[in-house]
Amino acid sequence: MTAGMKKVVILGATSGIALEVERQLACRGCELLLVARSAQRLAELRSDLMARGAQQVLTCAANLASIQQHASVFEFTCHNFYDFDTVLLAYGSMHEQKDSERSIDVLVEELQINFVSASAILTLFGADLERRRTGCLAAITSVAGDRGRRSNYVYGSAKGALSLFLQGLRSRLHPAGVRVITIKPGPVQTPMTDHLPNAARFADPEQVGRDIVDALERRSPDVLYTPKIWRYVMAAVQQIPETIFKRLSF
Ligand SMILES: NC(=O)c1ccc[n+]([C@@H]2O[C@H](COP(=O)([O-])OP(=O)(O)OC[C@H]3O[C@@H](n4cnc5c(N)ncnc54)[C@H](OP(=O)(O)O)[C@@H]3O)[C@@H](O)[C@H]2O)c1
Repeated sequence: MTAGMKKVVILGATSGIALEVERQLACRGCELLLVARSAQRLAELRSDLMARGAQQVLTCAANLASIQQHASVFEFTCHNFYDFDTVLLAYGSMHEQKDSERSIDVLVEELQINFVSASAILTLFGADLERRRTGCLAAITSVAGDRGRRSNYVYGSAKGALSLFLQGLRSRLHPAGVRVITIKPGPVQTPMTDHLPNAARFADPEQVGRDIVDALERRSPDVLYTPKIWRYVMAAVQQIPETIFKRLSF
């Protein structure tokens, strides 16, 4: 087991990327608290992770997109898993961009799930780690948040806002010795993307899970691009002048 990471809270434990992280943490003998919407899927996950070597797996069924439910998730955590040292936020949704253009309700829901509720629950857990002057807070945003594109700027802007939020939170929590990691995956093969063209060419979630576990264990980096090539791809994409970028149809 890793010295600095023993008790890990996963917010959005049923995500395809989170599943890979959980399997690897279970093999390391970590204790896990899993939060997701479906009690049945959580129970199945618990059995699987215990069989893989997790020392303890607690579950808490909640819809994290609803800020009203955050207080009870936090209370459950403080009561049953009070000395957690790591929090990974992994839930999110990616609606069809066209649906967000046609419906303000869909647009607001996309921002609510990916940014508003995420920043709210990170504030709750972050304050606890800050008070205890320990631990690590990590959240999955996306490379889509690095530049607004025609084909997915609503999802991208929510992820971009979350990345900016994490940057500020990192600075706030730094004096307390709390690490904040921004995780920016490129396209990954998960249920979120399996309907997209070329999905078979997307990154293997096992590799992405490994990169995330490595980042949680090590002292660096503050911002993880996974797979690593996306750091260079996005650095190049950010250099394209706006006059050209606005004409690109992707
Ligand atoms: N896959 C990619 O290419 C990719 C790339 C960059 C970033 N990401 C980000 O990585 C994270 C994990 O995504 P994934 O690829 O692992 O996707 P996934 O397998 O589709 O998982 C999505 C997770 O979000 C939860 N969720 C979805 N809609 C929700 C809602 N309305 N309310 C509450 N929870 C909801 C799901 O819970 P249920 O199981 O209850 O549905 C599930 O736990 C997300 O933040 C995603 O934006 C993914």
